[in-house]
Amino acid sequence: MTTRKKLIAGNWKMHGSHAANAELLAGIAAARPFVAEVAVCVPFPYLSETAVALAGSDIRWGAQDCSAHEQGAYTGEVSAAMLHEFGCRYAIVGHSERRQYHAESDQLVADKAKAALARGVTPIVCVGETLAQREANETEAIVKRQLSAVIHTLAHCAGEMVVAYEPVWAIGTGKTATPAQAQAVHALLRAQLAAATPHAAAMKILYGGSVKPGNAATLFSQPDIDGGLVGGASLKAADFIAICRAAA
Ligand code: PGA
Repeated sequence: MTTRKKLIAGNWKMHGSHAANAELLAGIAAARPFVAEVAVCVPFPYLSETAVALAGSDIRWGAQDCSAHEQGAYTGEVSAAMLHEFGCRYAIVGHSERRQYHAESDQLVADKAKAALARGVTPIVCVGETLAQREANETEAIVKRQLSAVIHTLAHCAGEMVVAYEPVWAIGTGKTATPAQAQAVHALLRAQLAAATPHAAAMKILYGGSVKPGNAATLFSQPDIDGGLVGGASLKAADFIAICRAAA
């Protein structure tokens, strides 16, 4: 069996302030060492202070999006090259909130993932079905379609992304997928990756959607769940630390 090091990535979404960030980051740094790899994905304006606060620690930082374009007249966009200059290890792409509120298509998400990888930033590519899609038995078709666009666009580099399965109905709702429900989708995703890249067994597939200290260990004990993408609970140091510790 392949042993994959687990990754716990906090997704702060549009939360934070200088004071709150300083306290949160100091709390997380003080709780080291962790067995799992730990990262925080912060709003763009806070990347700089996050890099300073975490300097010298093994905790990594990332962004929550990145442009599909290299550079140019794209007002409001942030390029992967800029993120790389800030020392970003990760960029979340295709989060359901971006797909929903910013009409991001599967191809745009794939292009963002490609732009990130081209600059040495690992994309955390999110896929997941809505409640209506799950109830219509479309989960498999939806996540496969979303992942397929990225696999085709990344081609021989597909093995370098991190995938996050985030059922939309579980995000911020307090409704977590059961470990069995999540594992079933993770196994499908890994099989899809295996058909496309020889690196599938070594790739990380994270689960996201109401991960909490109380459910993290069971989720992370599933064979194809390699850690978590954590929203709300990543804003409280004690909760985030407990989740990181649950990923041993
Ligand atoms: P949640 O968010 O943990 O608050 O459900 C997860 C995510 O959106 O990445």
